[in-house]
Amino acid sequence: MFYYFVRKLLFLIEPEKSHTLTLKCLNSKYIQILIDMFLKPIPSRPIKCMGLTFPNKVGLAAGMDKNGEYIDFFSKLGFGFIELGTVTPLPQVGNPKPRIFRMLSEEAIVNKMGFNNLGIENLINNIKKSKFKGIIGVNIGKNKNTSIENAINDYLICIEKIYCYTDYIAINISSPNTKNLRNLQFGVLFKNLLKKTKRKQKEMHIKHSKYVPIAIKISPDLSRNEIIYISQQLIKFKIDAVIATNTTLDHSLIHKIKNSQIKGGLSGLPLQRKSNDIVSILYKQLKKNIPIIGVGGINSINSAKEKIKSGAKLIQIYSGLIYHGPKLIRNIIKKL
Ligand SMILES: Cc1cc2nc3c(=O)[nH]c(=O)nc-3n(C[C@H](O)[C@H](O)[C@H](O)COP(=O)(O)O)c2cc1C
Repeated sequence: MFYYFVRKLLFLIEPEKSHTLTLKCLNSKYIQILIDMFLKPIPSRPIKCMGLTFPNKVGLAAGMDKNGEYIDFFSKLGFGFIELGTVTPLPQVGNPKPRIFRMLSEEAIVNKMGFNNLGIENLINNIKKSKFKGIIGVNIGKNKNTSIENAINDYLICIEKIYCYTDYIAINISSPNTKNLRNLQFGVLFKNLLKKTKRKQKEMHIKHSKYVPIAIKISPDLSRNEIIYISQQLIKFKIDAVIATNTTLDHSLIHKIKNSQIKGGLSGLPLQRKSNDIVSILYKQLKKNIPIIGVGGINSINSAKEKIKSGAKLIQIYSGLIYHGPKLIRNIIKKL
């Protein structure tokens, strides 16, 4: 109840402003003390995935804490893991504002952020400062000014820099707001990306005597045949996990509402079915060879269970947290 009251006030403010304002307030020392006093830690329900032990199945999806500024706050909400980023080798401003739009009646968000972030060095400094001892993933991408043909270099730079500071790395080739990025999911570009990424992982593994798993984050706008092809390549190159899915460009899912023409990636409830279907196809193809981290439209205990039934081993949440608040996370963790 309390969250829905606060939400009413927050939703009066422009979405990106209210996002930043809320996180800044919640991150203050005094609020942290209150959280420690009133939010009891949730008992851990460990699960093994990618060779790591996660305290529970529920993670924060990429994009919420792009620069790793709020790691300790999000860990207090009970998340078993936190995926930071997307971060790029160099800082960049992203697309012009406004670039986040809420569709309250649909429980949806459309965003066209374009990888606004302060760069990988800044993220590393923030990870070093955090007290969180749980699982951190870092989601990496390419800079806007890097051509798609040279994109792999940006991923390799990020892997090399972040390797010692993260538990897993997520390769984002599915954001719809960076021109041509999704081309990396197909053909020679995809194979080269997987080959060079695995080579870099092996080199870093030897250098640091530490194995950091690599996950690939895919789009929901793929055909069945494309998913089958992607699955075969993921198995061939021994990729550690797949994250399904990013936001969708399919706005027919919200065609009845007045803002449906706004360009950008759609997330939240309208994405749920589409993203579950992708997880199901992946699961049939990958069997138990490669774990799936399911994300897209989780807004209740039932939808979390549905994602797991579709084949996800772990789940992540973004829009559900905006619409239902921290209680959703705790309820799901307790009931899964
Ligand atoms: C405002 C916003 C920003 C996002 N930024 C990123 C990002 O930087 N990298 C990424 O991989 N996914 C990003 N996402 C996608 C989410 O991580 C997630 O895959 C997607 O929103 C579907 O989950 P949901 O329905 O629970 O929101 C973003 C989503 C939103 C709404």
